[in-house]
Formats: sequence, C-alpha cells, structure tokens
Amino acid sequence: MTLLTNPARALLGWYDKHRRVLPWRAPAGRRAQPYHVWLSEIMLQQTTVQAVADYYRKFLLRWPTVGALAAAPLDEVLAAWAGLGYYARARNLHKAAGVVAHELGGTFPATAAELRKLPGVGPYTAGAIAAIAFDQPEAAMDANAERVVARLYAMDEPFPGGKAKLLALGRKLVPKKRAGDFAQALMDLGSAICTVKRPACGNCPLAAGCAARATGLAETLPVKAPKRARPLKRGAAFVAVNAAGAVLLTKRPEKGLLASMLEPPLGPWTTKFPSREDALAQAPFAAAWKKLPGLVRHGFTHFELEVEVWTASLDGRVKPGHDGKGKWVARETLGSVALPTVMRKIIEHALPDDGPLFRAKTTTPRR
Ligand code: ADE
Repeated sequence: MTLLTNPARALLGWYDKHRRVLPWRAPAGRRAQPYHVWLSEIMLQQTTVQAVADYYRKFLLRWPTVGALAAAPLDEVLAAWAGLGYYARARNLHKAAGVVAHELGGTFPATAAELRKLPGVGPYTAGAIAAIAFDQPEAAMDANAERVVARLYAMDEPFPGGKAKLLALGRKLVPKKRAGDFAQALMDLGSAICTVKRPACGNCPLAAGCAARATGLAETLPVKAPKRARPLKRGAAFVAVNAAGAVLLTKRPEKGLLASMLEPPLGPWTTKFPSREDALAQAPFAAAWKKLPGLVRHGFTHFELEVEVWTASLDGRVKPGHDGKGKWVARETLGSVALPTVMRKIIEHALPDDGPLFRAKTTTPRR
C-alpha cells in the first residue's frame, strides 16, 4: 500500500507542469497519431530518447504515413535505420507497416491485444501504443516506469522474476482517464526525478507515499539479478580497398545475428584469433594482407567480440567480390548504407583517418 490516496492524480498534476517536449509527443490535451506513437516506440526499444529524436524526424519526413513506409523498399528502410542498431526492429517495422497498410486498411488496431499481433510489438510496446495513442487503460512498464513502481511499493524481488509483480502493481495504478498521459508521466518521472542513482526525492510528487523512500531504500531498488559473464569471441576481419578507395562489403547470412546486413568479409568467431596462416586462408581472396595493430571490441547482448583487422590495397586491379556476392562501396557512400555498428568500427579501424566516415554513434545499449 502506498500512503498517497491517489498516486495517479499526484503524478498527473506533476506531469502537467513538467512534461518533456518530445518530437513524437502531442501537445497537452491532444492525442498523438497511432503511426507516430508506434514508430517512436519501436525506435525507443533499447535506445535512448536523445538518440531516437533525429531518426524519428527523418523517418516521418521521408515516410509521413504508414502506407508510405509500407511502400518503401526494405533496403531503404534499413539504410535509414543504420546506426540505431538491433536491425530486426527495422525489418519488423517494415513488415508491420505492410500488415497495417494492406490488411488493416491503413488503420492501427486500438487495443493492446490486437496491437500485439503486429510484428515487433511485444507487451510493453502494445501497452504503450494502446495507452498513448488510444487512451486505453493499459500499463506501459519500461525501465523508467518499473523503477518508479518498484520504489513506490518497495518491491524488492529481484529481476527478472519480480517483473511480473511490478507489472501487476503498475496496472493497478493506471487511471481510467488519461492513461496515455499517465504512462508518459511515469517515464518522465523515472527519467528526471526517480533516477537510477541519487533520485531527487525532494522534488517527487509521489514522495509522501513512497515506501522505498520511507525506509531509505530508494537507490537500491529495483533489485537486478546478477549479470551473467558474457563469453569472449575472437576473429579476423578483412577490409579490402580498391584503387578508387572503395571498400569490399558482403552480405551476412539471412538467418542469425545481424541477418542479411552488410559487412567486410569476416572469418569465424572462436575463442582465439587465427594464426597468420589461418587468417590468410579465411581471407576472401589472395592478396598482400596486412594485420593492423590494435583490436576492435564490441559488446553484443550475449557475448563480447574482439576482432583483428587485416587490410589489403588492390592497386590498379579491381578484384571481383567475395564469392561473386560482394560489392565495392565508395568511401563517400559508406555512411549511407545499412552497416551495423561493429562493422563501422572495423572499417574505421582500417581506413586512414581523414574525416568522419559515419555519423556519431547514437545508441547506448549493446547490439
Ligand atoms: N521511452 C519509451 N517510450 C517513451 C516515450 N513515449 N516517451 C519518452 N520516453 C520513452
């Protein structure tokens, strides 16, 4: 129980004064379009608000309606997504746009249960869209909201087990009216006041009813399960540069990690780096391959990767692509093809530094 008789009302009062202005957010008293809410929520999965803002604006300018997005070639959507990471989101985005545009007459479903049937829409996202775009009394428990609710009730069961309990507590808090504002208010409170470290409890509209604050536990909640150590994998990458300065890129397999994305040719990832002899056998073709000093490191969700980078300059002759499937991509256009961050790091490691090849890195989480 919380001591506040009506936490939702207290939170909404705070939100009316302190709500963030965000590109996907409707002005006070208005409801955002479902297309806008859906697009922003897919982008915001595992990505920060700051990182998403520019991508969101760019997508809307280019594809102002769900029909326009559905009609776009997937490759263009993936290229526009480049740098946001977790590319399965972009594939599902395109697929879901097709479902809405072609099977649902261009109208998004208005309930969480129906929204969940769209590719890429899980329970959190369905709740967020239903609440924000349709004012359905649904909870949208992202990490910020979970933290607020865990502290309000001093819910100390460790994650992930404690998540179901938090969702149940969060659902009970949702008001019948203004559910969309309530969902966004929880997110804003978690982002501005009820922060992971040093929460600003003195400015919190829920402080009087916060069980964690009463017991001095706020900063210790929610309790996270201990992180599992991630295994380390190692391998070699081969950055071939032709006489025009273009880089050879090949397509990854259609299934699995970074499916169908472009990459410089890579050797297998195992527990150790290949010897010189093994690396030369892994290279896409025979050439004067040189191993560069240093390493590229990248954290994926389930493992860490270290890559040694080999380069070869193909003076004069342009070699055919790896297995005939590769393509040479001009240095100036590298920034506009859909290249996962790890592949960008590899190419940046290999190419002489004369200006940024890619936009600044925009996401914080691993991928
Ligand atoms: N994080 C996820 N969805 C969000 C939203 N609609 N507003 C702010 N932060 C968010």
